[in-house]
Amino acid sequence: MISFTDRVVLVTGGGRGLGEAYCLELARRGAAVVVHDNGVETDGSGGDPGPADDVARSIREAGGRAVACATDASTESGGQAAVDLAVEEFGRLDAIVANAGIIHEDPISDWPTERFEALLRHHLLAAFHVVRPGFAVMRSAGYGRLVFVSSAAGVFGQPGLTGYATAKTGMLGLMNVAALEGAAFGIGANAIMPMGDTRMAMALMGEAGKTADARAFLETLRLDQVAPVVAYLASEQCTLTHRVLSAFSGRVAALQIGVTRGWGGPGAAFTAEDVAANLDQILDPSGILVPGSIFDEMEHALTAEPLPSDEQSRQPETIPSPNPV
Ligand SMILES: NC(=O)c1ccc[n+]([C@@H]2O[C@H](COP(=O)([O-])OP(=O)(O)OC[C@H]3O[C@@H](n4cnc5c(N)ncnc54)[C@H](O)[C@@H]3O)[C@@H](O)[C@H]2O)c1
Repeated sequence: MISFTDRVVLVTGGGRGLGEAYCLELARRGAAVVVHDNGVETDGSGGDPGPADDVARSIREAGGRAVACATDASTESGGQAAVDLAVEEFGRLDAIVANAGIIHEDPISDWPTERFEALLRHHLLAAFHVVRPGFAVMRSAGYGRLVFVSSAAGVFGQPGLTGYATAKTGMLGLMNVAALEGAAFGIGANAIMPMGDTRMAMALMGEAGKTADARAFLETLRLDQVAPVVAYLASEQCTLTHRVLSAFSGRVAALQIGVTRGWGGPGAAFTAEDVAANLDQILDPSGILVPGSIFDEMEHALTAEPLPSDEQSRQPETIPSPNPV
């Protein structure tokens, strides 16, 4: 039985959509929940304490423990206030689900700078400014769980989502470092790539999302098929760290970021033409390594088989400059 009795969890973006589903599932399992949501529109404009208040109230009315926080998670003071509230109200902070976010779509050449910056703020800074002070609390306690919300749109790509994809893949960078640094302090960090039938999904689909077919598809993206995965990752029973799980439509899977065995090795000298001629071996996925850190990847490269000696000894060709100086 995965229980959160005596555990305190902070969920950013907990006032709506997937975040609300995480709050309710965690509270149902006994967690005291900080519902952190500043109630912005899907483009990051506006602000409303209502969504966080409503979710926190519904948890309390069901007999659970919850408090609302409507600060902006993307600011240093807003993130700190949410962490402080968890400690003041419930005496500890055991897990953070960094879930807050917004959306915008445009062709890459038309992406407005201020939209790109807003996407980085509401996803990446909103995670960083909560996780940094939260990590310090967890390190002192010798225990913690961090769940970073990423997206397949970032990890694998989705046309039109330049800023969103950049921010969501950046969440994996935060997770990687938190997992490696957290290991010595009992802090586990993982990420999830969810999909859910939420207002963000509707905003992205626009008018197309209103057809019967689109509605039927969106209804397959059930929030109750994602929330249990987050509950597991946020729990004491979670034995994973430094992992990325994909969860939607009832399927849970793991992302593997690996590097092929490759071609060449230490000391190799080769030309661009050699690279082109050896693409099959460079890309060959057999014997792929999933590095646990940059050091595994370096060891992999430094212990690679050297090239046959004739390729090894070849000097790179120089390209004649059209305008010698
Ligand atoms: N819905 C999907 O299919 C899907 C797919 C992949 C990833 N995600 C990710 O899941 C998360 C939740 O998405 P959703 O679909 O539930 O969206 P949503 O719009 O329903 O909820 C997001 C919530 O985040 C809050 N928020 C935004 N910026 C904030 C800030 N700076 N401080 C505090 N709160 C803030 C908003 O007010 C909103 O209530 C997002 O990170 C999103 O990128 C969603």
